[in-house]
Amino acid sequence: MPSITNHLPTAELQALDSAHHMHPFTTNDELTQKGARVITRAKGIYLTDSEGNEILDAMAGLWCVNLGYGREEMGQVAARQMNELPYYNTFFQTTHVPAIALAKELADLAPGDLNYVFFAGSGSEANDTNLRMVRTYWAQKGKPEKSHVISRKNAYHGSSVGSASLGGMTPMHEQGGLPIPGIHHIGQPDWWAEGGDQSPEEFGLARARELEDKILELGADNVAAFIGEPIQGAGGVVIPPSTYWPEIQRICDKHDVLLIADEVICGFGRTGNWFGSQTMGIKPHIMTIAKGLSSGYAPIGGSIVCDEVAEVINACEFNHGYTYSGHPVCAAVALENLRIMQEENIIDHVQNVAAPALQEALNKLGEHPLVGGVNVSGLMASLPLTPHKESRAKFASDAGTAGYLCREHCFANNLVMRHVGDRMIISPPLIITPEEIAIFADRATRALDATYADLKDKDLLKAAS
Ligand SMILES: Cc1ncc(COP(=O)(O)O)c(C=O)c1O
Repeated sequence: MPSITNHLPTAELQALDSAHHMHPFTTNDELTQKGARVITRAKGIYLTDSEGNEILDAMAGLWCVNLGYGREEMGQVAARQMNELPYYNTFFQTTHVPAIALAKELADLAPGDLNYVFFAGSGSEANDTNLRMVRTYWAQKGKPEKSHVISRKNAYHGSSVGSASLGGMTPMHEQGGLPIPGIHHIGQPDWWAEGGDQSPEEFGLARARELEDKILELGADNVAAFIGEPIQGAGGVVIPPSTYWPEIQRICDKHDVLLIADEVICGFGRTGNWFGSQTMGIKPHIMTIAKGLSSGYAPIGGSIVCDEVAEVINACEFNHGYTYSGHPVCAAVALENLRIMQEENIIDHVQNVAAPALQEALNKLGEHPLVGGVNVSGLMASLPLTPHKESRAKFASDAGTAGYLCREHCFANNLVMRHVGDRMIISPPLIITPEEIAIFADRATRALDATYADLKDKDLLKAAS
């Protein structure tokens, strides 16, 4: 029997946690000093911690709990599937009903001729699949040298060696000798931070054309694919200018470069359509999926693959797969998630109810002296903090100082907003109501006021020169 229960005092749980548990993306020694917040249960959009605080989760966990917490149907389906068939693989001439049904459902939901699914356990694994799949595709077509992949600085595609190499996060590349060879990074379409005096449209075109420059530099015969999140999530909710994606699509088509849309965050309703590719008007060859596929209730991801690529891959033995590819319990949970999303018209709710309410609330927050702008698409948003609104100035202090302070004030006000550098990130469960958005806005205002006062006290409201 497990001897560690929710009934232990918080301090004891924290001590045990720091004695044995290494947290991801964390300086564990610092966490030991502060003590981790112990989350004990959750319902709807609220988390409860071991001290009994009710915290509004404006991040849906890690951008994933789209249906909100505590949906009993999901647990019931998982239990039923565990009793019927808890596990079997799909490697050696076998399959099972949850994997069949989920692949069919995803092919129906995905746009165009994205009709095949290769399952993985996470977004990182799925992007590793994509890297190997696009290289194998071109090799099978007699062009093994068409193997380089182009991505973007500040992109996030996962934490495995392959997917972190595809990503463009400098602090990740600095650890463990990344990126692996054959992966290149061009500039991101972040007008707010990098657009200078250019209009968003000019800047979007200029950043897209970096792709063509890179393809010409490497030689189109050497470039397998371009990968991008329709809207960068972990990079700070970077919504590209309207000129960006059409130009990227044109360049990929012209040079016969496969287009991979990483839909791990944008997929399954986050931007107000089933997929971010639809919101941005992109026609990808492959879409990476995870997170919202199961609303985070079970670890599952995958690649949705177009006919053209699947036909080539299916003609050879693709020496790739994971023990948990298409895991029956995870697949059953994902299917139930998609069933509920359709039954409850969640996409419609995002588009017509929640997104307009969030937009209105954020417009008000945008008037706060500390907020430099509002980036929002559907239920995915960021508020860049700035000491000087008009010039979109950065702070003179180390990047992330103001954002971190604000995150702490959010926590103190029972609100989870994450910070990426000095941007506050919002990505609530898709079921959030306008009334709950009003509560979010109230807590966020209090956190912003407290951050402003704090920055003033510490003389940190200075702009970088
Ligand atoms: C766009 C994107 N791709 C891939 C991943 C990696 O997914 P996972 O953490 O499930 O491996 C993430 C995770 O945040 C993501 O945001």
